[in-house]
Amino acid sequence: MRQAIIAILLLSMVAMGQIIQLPPPPGNDIDLHSAIESRRSRRTFGDGAVTFEQISELLWSSAGITDPGGRLRAAPSAGATYPVDTYILVERAEGLAPGLYRYIEKDHALELIEEGNLAGKLSEASLGQNSVRTAAVSILLYVIVERTASRYGDRADRYVNMEVGHIAQNIYLTAEGLNLSTVAIGAFDDDAVAQLFEVDGALRYYMAIGTRPE
Ligand SMILES: Cc1cc2nc3c(=O)[nH]c(=O)nc-3n(C[C@H](O)[C@H](O)[C@H](O)COP(=O)(O)O)c2cc1C
Repeated sequence: MRQAIIAILLLSMVAMGQIIQLPPPPGNDIDLHSAIESRRSRRTFGDGAVTFEQISELLWSSAGITDPGGRLRAAPSAGATYPVDTYILVERAEGLAPGLYRYIEKDHALELIEEGNLAGKLSEASLGQNSVRTAAVSILLYVIVERTASRYGDRADRYVNMEVGHIAQNIYLTAEGLNLSTVAIGAFDDDAVAQLFEVDGALRYYMAIGTRPE
């Protein structure tokens, strides 16, 4: 019995922190004008999984490195202080087990933080929103305000709010280009959400994403 428990503990230690390389972001065919024109908050999702390539494109458009120097990202940041850490909560995705992953910008890779079906708990902490419970994935934007406050003092909180907005709009337009549904989620209980996952920072905003219903 004791050996079985040790084996289970070792297995979970191996899984935690596992690094998964994402494929290169594939791009999409929609032009920017059309994406802006057709963008809507879409709260109803199909049962299907999102693909590994779609996840790659969504995360790249959120926080991907777009600078040959390896520092600047897809969305702007006050003084390039990058206070936002990007996580993806997976329920249904090809090639990824359900769980919470952190996006590692410099490697375009994911680090497994916690395995399991976690969307129900996130929905409960978000006024029970059905879109959150039924999404294939959610991209969670955690902020560490101190990174920006060390340079901009009291204006930092205002700046991080602007930054999650920039990132969210990139996700809206990318989802439109990938023919996925997405909705921004700002309505959640900060204290309840803070109890959910052991990660640094505070959840400020997130996007529930899924396939379009048939
Ligand atoms: C800051 C912010 C927070 C939002 N929070 C939620 C939310 O918690 N749940 C939700 O279903 N929609 C949420 N929305 C989406 C809005 O309801 C939606 O943008 C609005 O109805 C306009 O529709 P459109 O996005 O299709 O143009 C949020 C939008 C913003 C900008």
